[in-house]
Amino acid sequence: MVNKGFRHLPEYLPPARQRALLETLRAVIAAAPLYTPVMPRTGRPLSVAMTNCGALGWISDRAGYRYQATHPATGRSWPPIPPMLLEIWREIAEYPAPPEAVLINYYGPGARMGLHQDRDEADLAAPVLSLSLGDACRFRLGGTRRADPVRTLRLASGDALILAGGDRLAFHGVARIEAGTSTLLAEGGRFNLTLRRVTAPPPSGQKGELTAADRVSI
Ligand code: SIN
Ligand code: MN
Repeated sequence: MVNKGFRHLPEYLPPARQRALLETLRAVIAAAPLYTPVMPRTGRPLSVAMTNCGALGWISDRAGYRYQATHPATGRSWPPIPPMLLEIWREIAEYPAPPEAVLINYYGPGARMGLHQDRDEADLAAPVLSLSLGDACRFRLGGTRRADPVRTLRLASGDALILAGGDRLAFHGVARIEAGTSTLLAEGGRFNLTLRRVTAPPPSGQKGELTAADRVSI
């Protein structure tokens, strides 16, 4: 595979598109409320609140990390991925099949996320596409080994970041939120949306819809 690495697209979403995306996000959260996940084994709460949309959602609880089709608190299916997000994926992901999971993280002023890899997906050929809304953050991006040097990027509202090719499994995290750097969210803080492909798309088709058989095999 060609190592296209990561791409940072500052202000990919202009302000009007950020506002439209935020409105859509509020509707998703109304159907699938933000909740506080806990760490595997220890049960220690994360500082980030989470929810998802899509056929699958990424969750963390005492049992571990995984994708599942339902919200852990409400037991309901996650809401579908809004067309606006599918459109952004088509514009910049450079991948033929649509995303299946969108993890929505909300960071209050003191929230952070430790260095980790996104590796719970069966399809590692697909990129991870992240979108930021609200306050900027100090984003940490390392290599594929935990000990690799780590650089700091500033991700601001409207920025897109794509982890692909040789950086698909790069360690990354959020060192801190720069509180008060955006007026987009009335409540302050930062939303990050991570669009991911979870299963490998069927070899022949381009649509890559999940079948019932795929769901049970996850
Ligand atoms: C994540 O890795 O789940 C989120 C990254 C971010 O908040 O930018
Ligand atoms: Mn991640």
